[in-house]
Amino acid sequence: MTRYVVKTRADSPELRKAAVAIEQAAWSALGFLNFTRAHFAYYQQLLDDHADCQLCLVDDVTGYPVAVGNCVPLACDFDNLPPEGWDWIVESAANNNGKRRNALGALAISVPNLHRGKGVARRMIEEFRALAERKGLDGVIAPVRPSEKHRHPFIPIDDYIGWEDDKGRLYDPWLRSHSAAGGKLIKPALRSMVVEEPVGFWEMWTGRSFDQSGDYAVDGGLVPVSVDLDSGVGRYVEPNVWFAYSAAA
Ligand SMILES: CC(C)(COP(=O)(O)OP(=O)(O)OC[C@H]1O[C@@H](n2cnc3c(N)ncnc32)[C@H](O)[C@@H]1OP(=O)(O)O)[C@@H](O)C(=O)NCCC(=O)NCCS
Repeated sequence: MTRYVVKTRADSPELRKAAVAIEQAAWSALGFLNFTRAHFAYYQQLLDDHADCQLCLVDDVTGYPVAVGNCVPLACDFDNLPPEGWDWIVESAANNNGKRRNALGALAISVPNLHRGKGVARRMIEEFRALAERKGLDGVIAPVRPSEKHRHPFIPIDDYIGWEDDKGRLYDPWLRSHSAAGGKLIKPALRSMVVEEPVGFWEMWTGRSFDQSGDYAVDGGLVPVSVDLDSGVGRYVEPNVWFAYSAAA
């Protein structure tokens, strides 16, 4: 049976390199998300500044990670999580202004195709909670990106989170995993990741041109991009779903 060891980016340059490779492989098709204001300004530096929070689940036998989990400590009010989910975590963690950091903000879990559907991402969620406990924090907050929402870009997120599968479980597998790992679904984070870029940016990512203003689905996007030819800008406002966890006991 495979045994996993939890390490971090801080442990060795090789592990940092493997973590970057896994993140890139998991997210390359969604590269437009790297261009939210917060992501572009702070993300990579933040991961290096908090290298001890960038977890790698390493296969004991091969010595190579099967999952990477990114999180950062920040100050937050668990009862007042804002609509600007993911971008807000990154901006708050980067501009902390001396506030007491009381929570871990989960930013991403990346699992290579080969290792999906085996529960390693759920294990990573448990490791976030364990890390929060070790650091003496109150818990973990996560603006979760529903993994199947991209198939339904025109369905409002409020409707989508109410969908069930034929067993009466949450329809979305990744929301289901967060719930199964003990997370409490709080509410949608309606403006979690906002990418506002010239129309030419969206033409590049989609490989098509836009000759009319309107809402267009893009591969991997959870909602359509709103293209406005008068201003020459395309705006993508991705909703995520807030989950909260107490620190592991
Ligand atoms: C989303 C993502 C992280 C999920 O990774 P994963 O390892 O497949 O996810 P999970 O750990 O949740 O897998 C759980 C599934 O595996 C099954 N499973 C198999 N063996 C298991 C075990 N020993 N323990 C738990 N679950 C197991 C479960 O039954 C469950 O499926 P179900 O809910 O239909 O029952 C992965 O697809 C990914 O990296 N995607 C690209 C990046 C991304 O979108 N990340 C998420 C946003 S941050």
